[in-house]
Amino acid sequence: SRIMIKETAPSNIALIKYMGKEANNIPSNPSLSYSLPHLLTTVEISKTDASEDQWAALESEYAIELSEKGKARYLKFFKKLKDHFGLSSNYLIQSANNFPSDAGLASSASSFAALTKATYSLAKSELDTEAFQALGFTGEFITDREKLSALSRTGSGSSCRSLFDTWSEWQTDFAVEESFSYSKLLHLAIIAEEDKKEVSSSDAHIKVKSSLLMEGRTARANKRLADLKNALNEKSWEAAFEICWAEFWDMHALFETSEPSFGYMTADSLMVLNECRSYWKANQDGPLVTMDAGPNVHLLFREDQKSCYEDFIKIFENKFKIWGSES
Ligand code: PMV
Repeated sequence: SRIMIKETAPSNIALIKYMGKEANNIPSNPSLSYSLPHLLTTVEISKTDASEDQWAALESEYAIELSEKGKARYLKFFKKLKDHFGLSSNYLIQSANNFPSDAGLASSASSFAALTKATYSLAKSELDTEAFQALGFTGEFITDREKLSALSRTGSGSSCRSLFDTWSEWQTDFAVEESFSYSKLLHLAIIAEEDKKEVSSSDAHIKVKSSLLMEGRTARANKRLADLKNALNEKSWEAAFEICWAEFWDMHALFETSEPSFGYMTADSLMVLNECRSYWKANQDGPLVTMDAGPNVHLLFREDQKSCYEDFIKIFENKFKIWGSES
């Protein structure tokens, strides 16, 4: 069938972490992220004569594989989006990533944000202008994207930060675009382990509620958010590094102090973290370091740190898979 709609959305990496949530993915604390356009999901939507919506991998260098559960979750969210926009036909959703899906990099953020954007475009082309505007949309993506962020949030929390090009801050319902003195960063992911994680981030949000360290967590995240925004505005890179380091350890401490405890840190993760610390010590400079609910380590470099970025590739390329923005 003829392709009707095609949209893309980037993944994002949080420096202040979303961890802990209420109904409809309302977060326990604010988060701040940087978008990663080299980790992109493309979604195509076309009409189908089938009796229900369908999902299929889009042909690409790195084909996406979705479990039955993953497919059901994605299509359920699409149904929700269709209901929101008053769309009733059945459609075929096809998606692809521009990065390997078996490397522990795949995120719900890019795939849910891309589906939200594509369904918005579909509605824009299927509805008449009046009906579309009655839903509160203008048709201009730039003016509609906070509304889209709120919609995307209900499918996957972190996806609400993937509607923006660089920095994005999420307090409660939707994320907003932020801008700091560092407008362009380089990104390197060190893949300590490629296997799928045992505890999904969706489950982690629930499990951390049992940690005694949840007391004070919102205040700590708020404080770090304010401090990090200051550091990024004032170009205090080292201060930013220290805040990001403390913040991902705080989140991993929540995992390890839950009852029962769980965790993602492996011996290899720790090895990578120790290399980062040594590099900072030796050079009085280095990347921002963070980890998600997984064993992989994410590094962010300033634009003028290209040689530092190359150093880190050399340090890790023979030991781990790496995936970077500059290759
Ligand atoms: O969007 P979720 O439910 O997969 O949560 C993601 C949470 C972290 O990646 C661990 C942190 C974040 O803010 O992205």
